[in-house]
Amino acid sequence: MASLTIKGLTKKYDETIAVENFNLEVKDKEFLVLVGPSGCGKTTVLNSIAGLININEGEIWFGEELVDAPQKKLFKIPQKRGVAMVFQDYAIYPHMTVYSNMAFPLEVRKVAPEEIKERVIKAARLLGIDHLLQRKPKALSGGQKQRIALGRAIVRNPKIFLMDEPLANLDAKLRVQARVELKKLQEELGVTTIFVTHDQIEAMTMGDRIALMNNGHLEQIGPPLELYQKPKNLFVADFIGSPSINMFQGNLVKKDKSIGIDLKFFFYPLTTKLSKSITDKEISKVVVGIRPENVLIVQNKKDGLFQANILRIEPVGKEYNIHLEVEGKPFISIESSADNWRQGDRVWITFAKDYIYIFDQESGDIIS
Ligand SMILES: Nc1ncnc2c1ncn2[C@@H]1O[C@H](COP(=O)(O)OP(=O)(O)OP(=O)(O)O)[C@@H](O)[C@H]1O
Ligand SMILES: [Mg+2]
Repeated sequence: MASLTIKGLTKKYDETIAVENFNLEVKDKEFLVLVGPSGCGKTTVLNSIAGLININEGEIWFGEELVDAPQKKLFKIPQKRGVAMVFQDYAIYPHMTVYSNMAFPLEVRKVAPEEIKERVIKAARLLGIDHLLQRKPKALSGGQKQRIALGRAIVRNPKIFLMDEPLANLDAKLRVQARVELKKLQEELGVTTIFVTHDQIEAMTMGDRIALMNNGHLEQIGPPLELYQKPKNLFVADFIGSPSINMFQGNLVKKDKSIGIDLKFFFYPLTTKLSKSITDKEISKVVVGIRPENVLIVQNKKDGLFQANILRIEPVGKEYNIHLEVEGKPFISIESSADNWRQGDRVWITFAKDYIYIFDQESGDIIS
């Protein structure tokens, strides 16, 4: 068991800077979800922690133990780091049974046969593959193979789990089940885990904290709801949440005596405090962000509303995604019922006041 600290990690592949001056602290026993768009450096970070690649700069610590520091000419080999990795493209041995595949890393480490059996069976049960132990991988589905790869990591009782989209190949139902089981298992084992995923729901539900990467660096780290409710910038606001946050570009204008944001279809007046903080920063162009659940369709015209057209109504089970359009700009509202509306209707819209985010258009940083 160990905490993990990464200080100033930089990894270059020839001219490509995959990760630059990356800092991360993962607490002991924590389940940290690493997310970010394709190519942002997630796998590079995992490979660095595992010691599968040579980093250019920085330090990697497992608790009090320094395991990687090129400037100090220190490099601990992967076998000595005590991490178990589940790769995106799992590699299992085709000629060995499921049982042997899972037992293999323990046999190599000369664990007692009785203990091997116990650990393999326990992991297989948790992963729902205990009935497949005598089969060969070729007689298994992709999802089942992925769970063997997961099981092979679990049986090793590592200090740190590194998982790169381990549930990606499971079907939707199994994925939900595996999510719950993996999280429960991780809590039981108390193993510090870094888990890479593209799946919003997986990230939000599984992570004690989420670290969001972009372009080789860390954008924001915090508990899931903090990233959702208090994004530091446009990138974070846009990445976290599904359907994505609606964004409208606007200009800061003076109207009569008040200052507000001109969205062309709507004038959004600002409080004195807010307008002061914006004018102090000399910002004139902003982006207004509003999450779909805070876009409200109302029955009757009132002040502070604007009109939009319904492009499409999308049922997603317990709620509806209502695709709307104002002055050529599409946006989405989530409603619990859509009985009152039809495609093509013109409806009145309001934004839930306390849930509007305002960003600086130039830097992308949040203002309020
Ligand atoms: N072996 C390599 N040689 C050269 N460039 C590489 C190599 N591995 C990764 N890269 C580059 O480094 C950057 C980060 O890649 P990485 O695999 O870490 O991204 P990722 O976040 O894991 O993406 P994905 O979500 O698609 O798996 C990318 O620009 C990628 O093209
Ligand atoms: Mg990757």
